[in-house]
Amino acid sequence: MISDIIKDRAELVNREIRRILSTGEPDGLYRAARHYLSAGGKRLRPVITLLSAEALGHDCRRAIHAGIAIETIHNFTLIHDDIMDEDEMRRGVKTVHTLYGVPTAILAGDTLYAEAFEILAKSDAEPHNVVRAVSSLARVCVEICEGQYMDMSFEERNDVSEQEYIEMVRKKTGVLIGISASIPAILFGESRNVEGALWNYGVYSGIGFQIHDDLLDITGKDKIGKDWGSDIVEGKKTLIVIKAFEQGVELDTFGKGKASREELERDIKKLVDCGAVEYARNRAREYIELAKSQLNVLDDSPAKFHLMELADYLVERDY
Ligand code: IPE
Ligand code: IPE
Ligand code: MG
Ligand code: MG
Ligand code: MG
Repeated sequence: MISDIIKDRAELVNREIRRILSTGEPDGLYRAARHYLSAGGKRLRPVITLLSAEALGHDCRRAIHAGIAIETIHNFTLIHDDIMDEDEMRRGVKTVHTLYGVPTAILAGDTLYAEAFEILAKSDAEPHNVVRAVSSLARVCVEICEGQYMDMSFEERNDVSEQEYIEMVRKKTGVLIGISASIPAILFGESRNVEGALWNYGVYSGIGFQIHDDLLDITGKDKIGKDWGSDIVEGKKTLIVIKAFEQGVELDTFGKGKASREELERDIKKLVDCGAVEYARNRAREYIELAKSQLNVLDDSPAKFHLMELADYLVERDY
């Protein structure tokens, strides 16, 4: 089962995270920086990195620094994203800024951001390939910022198209999963063709993954371990909302900042009834199929098969 494969690789990642990202002084800063890392998380990005290294015929442990660097970047983005989205729960615990305040949360994110590159630089690969990996991850971080800015600026607009939404999620979420899949190809000097195919696999998977994340915000309820309905009250232009608005659906709680459970449930019912939820679900599946087709360039192997299964899991998961 793919869940066992994920669990197995995630345990390896967790062991190394505990070893590499230990505590430090000042204690208050490191407690905030390590808060999400120790609270859990699915570790999907580093698992993709390890599977991708395996699919290229390498011992996955040679990609462990790259995987942890990417998970560290991910955790940095989560801390800052929760400030921007004004969310209170993540991974079943209180958000960093809720517990430690916004200034410390900003610094905690910045600390992780820098540590990630320090870790990546220790990769077991040819120095010129390590430099390329560092440079590629830096470019990905720039694009995440662009995507997050688009996400926020779309809140102010009522004419966001599906195409603009896809470009926004490609940047805020897709490219980090893209580099998760392609970084072993960079580190181990694979051809640009293989690197590009793995990148596209990750980016398309990431778009499907984010559409599904948006669906979970609406249909996931308490199991997701984070605030649900948050996208609606924040006025986020998700694909679901874009589709519903196209059909003239009106939401009472949209962009209102807060709402009761009952009010939210009424709006969610409207999104389901108008077919917008089903539409988004289908689009997410299409991106996953596109992602899987990219892997044709790789020789068949158990790891390649697991990457296919993992792509499916990204849009089937319930948290
Ligand atoms: C959440 O990512 C942020 C998004 C890009 C949607 P995950 O769903 O992978 O979060 P964790 O790491 O498992 O907590
Ligand atoms: C987050 O998108 C993307 C990044 C963290 C860059 P969301 O805002 O939908 O993620 P969640 O739902 O808070 O995890
Ligand atoms: Mg958020
Ligand atoms: Mg956000
Ligand atoms: Mg979300």
